[in-house]
Amino acid sequence: MTFNPLKEKGVPLEKQLRSWHDIVKRPFDKHSIDCYSRTRQILMNGIEVEAWNFKHNLARICPDPEVKRILALSRRIEDMHQTTVNWLTPAEQSVLETTLGYEQVAVDLTSWLAQNEPDDYVRETFNFGLLEDFDHLYRYSQWAYMVHGINPDDILQGMTDVVIGRPTQNHHNCNGARLRNHYDKDTASVQTKVNILTLVSGEQQTHNYYAEHGMMYGNDDLRRMYGEICDVEEEHVTMYESLIDPTESVWEKLLLHEFTEVCTYYNCYKDEVDEKLKAVWEEFLEHEIGHLHVAAEIFKNKENRDPEEVIGGEIVLPCHFESQKTYVADILNNEVDKRLDGTEERGYTVIDELPLDWPSYKVQGIVNAEGAPTEQAVRLVSTSLGRDVVVADKKLINKETDLLERGLQPRPQAPNTVTVEEYKLMAEVKPADL
Ligand SMILES: [Fe+2]
Ligand SMILES: [Fe+2]
Ligand SMILES: [Fe+2]
Ligand SMILES: [Fe+2]
Repeated sequence: MTFNPLKEKGVPLEKQLRSWHDIVKRPFDKHSIDCYSRTRQILMNGIEVEAWNFKHNLARICPDPEVKRILALSRRIEDMHQTTVNWLTPAEQSVLETTLGYEQVAVDLTSWLAQNEPDDYVRETFNFGLLEDFDHLYRYSQWAYMVHGINPDDILQGMTDVVIGRPTQNHHNCNGARLRNHYDKDTASVQTKVNILTLVSGEQQTHNYYAEHGMMYGNDDLRRMYGEICDVEEEHVTMYESLIDPTESVWEKLLLHEFTEVCTYYNCYKDEVDEKLKAVWEEFLEHEIGHLHVAAEIFKNKENRDPEEVIGGEIVLPCHFESQKTYVADILNNEVDKRLDGTEERGYTVIDELPLDWPSYKVQGIVNAEGAPTEQAVRLVSTSLGRDVVVADKKLINKETDLLERGLQPRPQAPNTVTVEEYKLMAEVKPADL
């Protein structure tokens, strides 16, 4: 089936205002919601935040009063969309529970994108980030148990594994080394452009959520861990956004933003199992088709080009959610010791090939000087409770233990690093009796 949004009618921009009662809907039930309805809700909030933010930034550099007026009207609608979507979150869903949802988005969305990404270098970058968010999920799961006494599967519903990935203490890089080579706007596929914009939006909102909510817990170890992972998400935004061709015109970028909204809402609508959420995705898809028509008109006027040159004549699917356990385990087994090479090539290498003057060592020496809070989380749960909270996959843990035994931890060693013996102990402990 083909779906060309430029040929669909949609709802005109001037008919998209809604009442407060319609904007702020009743939240979902956190006990019965499907985990992938929750991930769609989390992702679409990020998509809307990016849409709103982009249009404000564009307006600040836009001298054309008519375009400024259109941007003012349409970004108000984006903001109303954001309120509707984000406020479907129920009040009794704790910050840590929502956090597990954010990392489930990161793991399962990035896996899906990687498998549907035609560009090898972009795919490699997605896989690199994947193992980092996968580790975040493990660390937050320990705290969700320690603070709220919950099993991570209360949120993840058994669809996403909770296992140590590339340890978070090793994610701290020189942010300049995070920069990647960008795609070429004239040759990159539309799928690549939409994939990247979708992931940037999700990672940016993950950063924002940690930045705005990590302080809501009183425990200093947990506050520090939110601070540590928030900073990794900043690195992720830097990494993924640098894949975008900076020579695309602002009108091309506006077109791609609206097209990404159309594609993500279409994908959500197509997959949704919750009737209430499905109705929201359907309504907002119609709105976004209206936005796309407006952006296409501006693009035609400013550039005298056919919008289909940029977005093609068909929808792409950038956000299908399903369990990715096999894919993630495969990447983990093969790529856990991968590192940014820190060179002009902007490529990748492995731990034992890193030079002693690798720029990220200096950063890690400073930020991990008193130990990494993400390692403290594992120590706390394994020493104070005497057991691990999750089912640890021994094979994957052994992979990490092998690395530690080969002396492949980053140098200088953080004083609070989990030791080889502790990792071995964790592989022995039984899942918590929850
Ligand atoms: Fe929107
Ligand atoms: Fe993450
Ligand atoms: Fe991330
Ligand atoms: Fe939009």
